[in-house]
Amino acid sequence: MWLYLAAFVGLYYLLHWYRERQVVSHLQDKYVFITGCDSGFGNLLARQLDARGLRVLAACLTEKGAEQLRGQTSDRLETVTLDVTKMESIAAATQWVKEHVGDRDGGLTLLPRLKCSGAIIAHCSTELLGSSDPLASASQNAGITGLWGLVNNAGILTPITLCEWLNTEDSMNMLKVNLIGVIQVTLSMLPLVRRARGRIVNVSSILGRVAFFVGGYCVSKYGVEAFSDILRREIQHFGVKISIVEPGYFRTGMTNMTQSLERMKQSWKEAPKHIKETYGQQYFDALYNIMKEGLLNCSTNLNLVTDCMEHALTSVHPRTRYSAGWDAKFFFIPLSYLPTSLADYILTRSWPKPAQAV
Ligand SMILES: NC(=O)c1ccc[n+]([C@@H]2O[C@H](COP(=O)([O-])OP(=O)(O)OC[C@H]3O[C@@H](n4cnc5c(N)ncnc54)[C@H](OP(=O)(O)O)[C@@H]3O)[C@@H](O)[C@H]2O)c1
Repeated sequence: MWLYLAAFVGLYYLLHWYRERQVVSHLQDKYVFITGCDSGFGNLLARQLDARGLRVLAACLTEKGAEQLRGQTSDRLETVTLDVTKMESIAAATQWVKEHVGDRDGGLTLLPRLKCSGAIIAHCSTELLGSSDPLASASQNAGITGLWGLVNNAGILTPITLCEWLNTEDSMNMLKVNLIGVIQVTLSMLPLVRRARGRIVNVSSILGRVAFFVGGYCVSKYGVEAFSDILRREIQHFGVKISIVEPGYFRTGMTNMTQSLERMKQSWKEAPKHIKETYGQQYFDALYNIMKEGLLNCSTNLNLVTDCMEHALTSVHPRTRYSAGWDAKFFFIPLSYLPTSLADYILTRSWPKPAQAV
């Protein structure tokens, strides 16, 4: 009996492993657009996919970030500047992507940019070439029409505080970048992804599964989860697959120790008097130390996250959700299935008591 059970479980994992290892073909012809490539996961993913031979279209917030990335990658990788909070910037980036991946839906423009020894050999109009154009068919056959992958990675976390003393502007900014930005970029690029029957990878957070601290950030990531789930169900018949990546705590620009602690101090300093009286300086100091310890414990192995992103883009069978990092897998995900009261206790047991606690 136990032997049969063990054999059944073993077989299940073997099949699962085999299924997960299957990789899509023609990777070198596939375009992947990634937001937030100046630093952190986006930057590493851009370099990782470039090294694997994919055609990376990397969006950076700043020209300086773009220049640095170009300096570290092959000629195949191209960059564009993109601020996901600005509609005109998203529209310009979408047009730029269209020009790279080929656009046949517009009726007037056909822009298969085929590279031959690094040179652009075709940049044509449908009116001139018609649908039987050999370059267009070549590009289609090679599978480079449309955008294979869109990775919504750009995000901010500022500052680390409680809901009550997080100012409205900071909350709004997090929503604008982390949620509205993801929605707008996705909707803008969706026709191109649909054409390629490609992939959308949305970077959420484990704080999009268990809301815990930094209110505005968690709200934005819960929004990313909801948007991704809704879109996956709505567009299931178009062959587009959507994956959500939920990293635990990692050391990146976002979790930079000095900056994070400085911002935390600043937001406490700027908090209204009644907040300071309600919580008290001791509360803040204790919370500050908890945060400091948390930031110190962030994982430095960013590949745990970018490998999930890469799998979502290159596997024949991408997962719907990826939890990246040991804390995500072994603490937050199990916690998310516990009764809420028990999860509340576990998450806040080490927190200090506010000065005016009852
Ligand atoms: N680090 C973690 O522990 C962690 C955990 C869970 C989820 N995440 C998520 O992972 C994603 C990447 O973050 P990260 O940890 O790699 O942090 P990061 O190093 O700060 O990377 C975020 C990137 O987004 C860019 N960005 C900021 N505002 C933007 C805007 N308005 N438009 C376009 N790009 C913008 C940043 O540019 P600049 O560098 O020029 O500011 C940066 O390149 C985020 O969605 C984040 O929420 C991170």
